[in-house]
Amino acid sequence: MRRISIDKTEPGVVLGKTIYTDSFDVLLHKGVVLTKDYIIRLKARGYTTIYVDDVETADVVIKDPISDKIRTMATKDIHKVYKITQASLVKIEADTTDAVIKSINTPKFKNAFQHNPIFIHLCNNLNHFLEGIMSQDVLSGLNSIKSFDNYTYEHSVDTAVISTIIAKRLMLSQDKLKQVAVGEFLHDIGKIFIDEKIINKPGKLTPEEFETVKLHPVYGYELLKDVEQIGSVAAHIPYQHHERQDGRGYPRGLTGTNKLDMGLLKFREGDRLIMLAEIAAIADFYDACISDRPYRKGLSPDLVYELIKTGSGVQFNKELVDCFLSVVPKYPVGYEMRVKSGEYKDYTGIVASVNPQRLSVPKILLLNDDQKKKIKPIEVDLGSYARVLEIECFS
Ligand SMILES: [Fe+2]
Ligand SMILES: [Fe+2]
Repeated sequence: MRRISIDKTEPGVVLGKTIYTDSFDVLLHKGVVLTKDYIIRLKARGYTTIYVDDVETADVVIKDPISDKIRTMATKDIHKVYKITQASLVKIEADTTDAVIKSINTPKFKNAFQHNPIFIHLCNNLNHFLEGIMSQDVLSGLNSIKSFDNYTYEHSVDTAVISTIIAKRLMLSQDKLKQVAVGEFLHDIGKIFIDEKIINKPGKLTPEEFETVKLHPVYGYELLKDVEQIGSVAAHIPYQHHERQDGRGYPRGLTGTNKLDMGLLKFREGDRLIMLAEIAAIADFYDACISDRPYRKGLSPDLVYELIKTGSGVQFNKELVDCFLSVVPKYPVGYEMRVKSGEYKDYTGIVASVNPQRLSVPKILLLNDDQKKKIKPIEVDLGSYARVLEIECFS
């Protein structure tokens, strides 16, 4: 199986992973042969990348971090929680920050939120999500199929997947893992209190619009802070996920210690970042950067990996970045890649597998030569290759 841009998809290819609608019902089952019409419709719905099965990549196994069933259940619940909260918003007619916060905190609005069966269902199903993650020590890729409409919900699940695997590597308790998962599922929920036209603006935001968007962590926190099923710690994940170690983040400009907080996990409200939110900051940045958006293509995962390394100690908690680099591969399985140097320079192919012990040197499968001509596939294990062979992902 391989990952392929919808723009390069030709009729006749076999779909490798099921595609769901924006309300998470099946749109096209895996195994379906794509026609020209299907491809046009997928493009129209804003799908930018799909997975296909073909003979050349039949041996490439793209392992999902969570099953389709659990992913669909989580995305569906998050989607519904957003929708029901948005629906009860009609009664909020406030345009200043303080007025919005006051409206969020009215008992009627809060009660409607926390007693909603969908929200309760989301909280009750956290264990299923965690069970799905438990068997994994490292990621081989995220593999969600995002569209313009499902982005927010798939992004929320993907950030929860990365964060939970990091938290698991740090051997945090089951309670902490639950806080990580629910805090990540709802980390951007504050965006529903901001004008949709700004949130969905396809172009660059004006400075004023950006100031408005920067309020979403505050609104998310105000919504969740005293909700019993969430708890104060998890509510600080939405609140702090855009803060930075150097104090140049938002909304409060908190600073971090660049150290793991293994002994001090008891929550202290104050002017200091909590580790669960520092984990979220890395996961959120990674997933947001690699994802395609209506106004820009996603960056390649190896580039984002390097950006996170560069941000270590400045933007992101240094010791957590080290942990992130030990669980997320530089080149995820299934991605298209190009050789940058050596005897296979400019040959292209895909990332075939990753070694959990050496995540940055995968096995690759070369499928085209430097003239873009198809070749008999050549497998190269970068971990045991005699010379240095540099590669980069592309899409
Ligand atoms: Fe955010
Ligand atoms: Fe986000």
